[in-house]
Amino acid sequence: MTETLRLSSTAELGLDELASLFNEAYQGYEIPQHVDAGAVVFMHEALDLVPERSCVAWRGDRPVGLGMLGVRASRGWVGGMGVVPEARRSGVGEALMRGLIDHARGAGVRTLFLEVLETNAGARALYEKLGFRAFRRLEVLAWEGEPRGHDPSVIACEPKAARHRIAARRAAPEPWQRADETVDRLDVSTPALRAVTSPHGDAVYRVTEGRASVLQLAARDADAAGALLDSIRAKPGVMLLRFLNVPADDPGAEALRGRGATCIAAQTEMSVEVATL
Ligand SMILES: CC(C)(COP(=O)(O)OP(=O)(O)OC[C@H]1O[C@@H](n2cnc3c(N)ncnc32)[C@H](O)[C@@H]1OP(=O)(O)O)[C@@H](O)C(=O)NCCC(=O)NCCS
Repeated sequence: MTETLRLSSTAELGLDELASLFNEAYQGYEIPQHVDAGAVVFMHEALDLVPERSCVAWRGDRPVGLGMLGVRASRGWVGGMGVVPEARRSGVGEALMRGLIDHARGAGVRTLFLEVLETNAGARALYEKLGFRAFRRLEVLAWEGEPRGHDPSVIACEPKAARHRIAARRAAPEPWQRADETVDRLDVSTPALRAVTSPHGDAVYRVTEGRASVLQLAARDADAAGALLDSIRAKPGVMLLRFLNVPADDPGAEALRGRGATCIAAQTEMSVEVATL
């Protein structure tokens, strides 16, 4: 590993090469990751990843790591960062992240976001070294239990109307993977978005193979959130409800924890103002 490190953009790799580098770079990750070319395309489209601004690290002709950058106006997001096992702890991750920060700045990004598993101390140390600071805890919650009750004031509604009300009620920004721009992309794909509403809140979700994924939810309190979640869980064909990256202090998280949901991953959301670096 004495060869000089070189960075290029991920646009130089074919989709299959990018998928296999991603899989290699995530070896040993606590939540096993496996993507194929189709998943890579989906990630780019739904999450606004920009190949020209994403980085591959090379030692000679061997790709040894990658970092993917999403851009949405003044916000950026690190949507994948990994180094192949034999090249770790030799400065590759740091070089990739510095490359992404430069590319983000060049794209007009002011704030760069990422999420890191709470147990991933090495990655967190890298991000802190480069100036990222933690600002909230996000949980991935899965709930298979029975609905607690049936609130007749919760009814199905048009997802677009629900999204407007959620935008007006939302107390904190949505994490990248459930932000409005992501939901816009999903709104034109299959399966269709669905929504439920009550006088005290709204939720937008989609159902895939028996699993309801909550995309956005805003409610007055945990009781109101719980009524919406009960209603989604009770829909025919829904065996499991999942809520990705819900802020730990969100009423939806409180309601799910109260219903015995499992926290399958806890992440720290971090950000840095790139202009100040
Ligand atoms: C996290 C990861 C990308 C770090 O890449 P890397 O090339 O090993 O990191 P570097 O050698 O550039 O380290 C740079 C700094 O990060 C920190 N760091 C990296 N790995 C660390 C570890 N295992 N323990 C403690 N600190 C670590 C250190 O501060 C280090 O600076 P130092 O060398 O001056 O001590 C790499 O371990 C990896 O690919 N892991 C699997 C995938 C993954 O977890 N991705 C992150 C998803 S959020």
